[in-house]
Amino acid sequence: MTCRKVTKDVYFLGAIDWDRRLFDALIPLPNGTTYNSFLVKGSDKTALIDTVDPSKSHVLLDNLNDSDIPHLDYVVINHAEQDHSGSLPVVLEKYPEAQVVTNQKCKNLLVEMLLIPEEKFRVIDDRSTLMLGNKTLEFIFCPWVHWPETMVTYLREDKILFSCDFFGSHLATSELSATDQALLYESAKRYYAEIMMPFTVPIQKNLEKIQKIPIDIIAPSHGPLHNQPSFIMDAYRDWISRRVKNEVVIGYVSMHDSTHKMVEHLVDVLIQQGIRVQQFDLTRSDIGTFAMALVDAATLILASPTTLGGAHPQVVFGAYLANALRPKTRFVSIIGSYGWGGKMYDQLVGLLSNLKIEFLDPVIIKGYPKKQDFESLTDLGVLIQKKHNENAIS
Ligand code: FEO
Repeated sequence: MTCRKVTKDVYFLGAIDWDRRLFDALIPLPNGTTYNSFLVKGSDKTALIDTVDPSKSHVLLDNLNDSDIPHLDYVVINHAEQDHSGSLPVVLEKYPEAQVVTNQKCKNLLVEMLLIPEEKFRVIDDRSTLMLGNKTLEFIFCPWVHWPETMVTYLREDKILFSCDFFGSHLATSELSATDQALLYESAKRYYAEIMMPFTVPIQKNLEKIQKIPIDIIAPSHGPLHNQPSFIMDAYRDWISRRVKNEVVIGYVSMHDSTHKMVEHLVDVLIQQGIRVQQFDLTRSDIGTFAMALVDAATLILASPTTLGGAHPQVVFGAYLANALRPKTRFVSIIGSYGWGGKMYDQLVGLLSNLKIEFLDPVIIKGYPKKQDFESLTDLGVLIQKKHNENAIS
């Protein structure tokens, strides 16, 4: 690759990871990702903003060579997670004169995780600035978007916000800026669901902070740049709002078809009630799609057979994930089938303790569903619609 111009004296030096399919050994990446690193050439000083994942260090080094800078004064690190900081050691090896510019919390993490020597750092405060001659970098702390040390960097003269994970998307693309808004929205929503959803309160606070700044370009550290900042900022406002939609997400597993038949019936009832439904077989669904569905849905149904004395392990994982992601879901019900007993219901309720939800009556039956069981599921579907109507969920 070569370095690419963003604006005059601002360059993209990042790497496209077309082939990566799993992040944090957890999150599926159907569209790969990018690790975005930027170079700002001031009249006096030059700064690199964030690095790339260590697996792509060679791309960043090639791009630095291509940028033809005689030396590097600063490496700004917005966030210590290794997909952005992991190439810092090789950059410092190439440019031993460079200072690492970051906040105290980030410095502490980089010393611990990457063994960067203390004397390499220049520690900055919230809203402090760094002059590069004719260009000014302003540092704005944005804790918990995505880690406690996270900050963003604002280039005042160009009105570019280097937002790191904030407003990012896991989308490998050759385009520097977003052109396909539908694809960008989908990728950014998936990213929000998987990475950002547990942090809606800090996101709200940090969004209020940065929306006061005039921004022409948002340059996140994953995915394409945003030339229309309002598009992604409005999307974030919607996702973090308390508004839920007239939607039900069903995460289920079935071993011998009993639970599957229950799910099928409930889905039919919900469709008849005019409710949008998304159904996920948790043994084979992409958990990112499941997470994305949870962003808006008013109701979550977990459906499981009883196995090993409790819920199926994949439903346990689905419940654990939903609890950790803290969606704004209002209602939950648990349905499923057992052979001779078990603690499936109590186990799943216990796993959802983070969520501010009302549990609707479960439908847990013995064996294959019978007439009265289907009637109970019909009643549950009608109750869900009643709850949605009562709460003006549309
Ligand atoms: Fe893309 Fe939190 O790292």
